[in-house]
Amino acid sequence: MGRRMTHDLRSDFLGPPTDEMVEATARAAASPDGFALRESRYQRELESYAAELLGKEDALLFPTCTMANLAAVMAQVAPGETVIADAESHCVLSEAGGIAAVAGAMVRGLAGRAGLLPVDELSAALGAAPDAQRQPATLAMLETTHNRSGGMPLPLAHLEQVGELARASGAGLHIDGARFFNAAIALGISPAAMAAPATTVSLSLNKGLCAPNGALLVGSRAVIERALTIRQRLGGGMRPAGPVAAAGLVALRTMLPQLQRDHDNARELVAALRRLDFRAGPQLAGTNIVLVETGLDAPAQQRFLVALADAGVLAIPFGAGRLRLCLHRGIDAAAIPEIANAFASARNALAHPET
Ligand SMILES: Cc1ncc(COP(=O)(O)O)c(C=O)c1O
Repeated sequence: MGRRMTHDLRSDFLGPPTDEMVEATARAAASPDGFALRESRYQRELESYAAELLGKEDALLFPTCTMANLAAVMAQVAPGETVIADAESHCVLSEAGGIAAVAGAMVRGLAGRAGLLPVDELSAALGAAPDAQRQPATLAMLETTHNRSGGMPLPLAHLEQVGELARASGAGLHIDGARFFNAAIALGISPAAMAAPATTVSLSLNKGLCAPNGALLVGSRAVIERALTIRQRLGGGMRPAGPVAAAGLVALRTMLPQLQRDHDNARELVAALRRLDFRAGPQLAGTNIVLVETGLDAPAQQRFLVALADAGVLAIPFGAGRLRLCLHRGIDAAAIPEIANAFASARNALAHPET
């Protein structure tokens, strides 16, 4: 009997690079090009390609999306000023408090709805006249797709409304676009139209796009120039940059169709889990994240995850009584029934412990 395969759905950064990416990485590693921080031709090509795709003036390569998000804040917000973000966003929950600890900015977390900021509250916060006691809110942040809500793509109208409110008060809008292209594809909107309301957008190259690593910050020439110094200060000036950039360029050029396959597989997985009476969704998101409401308390959920791993599927806990599964290139359509069956086995194992 062959060993059963493990389906690892803990994140979409687990999607394997394509042969073309591996070859591009090896080729670039074998011919280092350039010395200065932006001299690599692979890096320049990637940055120009990304800037053009999003309709912005410039882009800059980063090692991670966390660092690109932080640099976006530092390039647009002075210490003591306020950043307004959804309280359930990755920047607030999962980036080690970098906005406070490193940028020295205040974060005002608003209670959003699936990543949508409450517009009245946002408008009041942005519009408040600063004085000696109250520093201005100089940056609004949105995250699309919105991870916590299960990969919800924010409607273009919301991006535009928030962008307009920010602009009217002289503030910026940063979009955490770790899964920006998932949103664009799910909504059928061009990346440039989606980026238009924002002053800066971060992009992950290593999630659904399957580059081994790397991220980008895209924006105006002036903001990217400031971000270059900030990136150096944060220790993100990778050199040689060619191997990372060369794979990233292949990712941007070739992998957008893969995201649609991931979305289709996510939809199939939701349907398969529902047929087995699991509460799986969200059905509205239409992207590559699936949430399963187990309703279990933390110890039982941990036992469920162990049983699920025994049955060949890795997932992560995602808040009380909830698991997250990310679809990616390493999970093909044939795996979907196997994943659903592993959930059924885990439920069975919990219902009938051997002791
Ligand atoms: C919405 C969102 N933003 C940012 C990040 C950070 O990406 P990185 O791991 O490249 O720092 C993640 C990672 O999962 C994410 O889901």
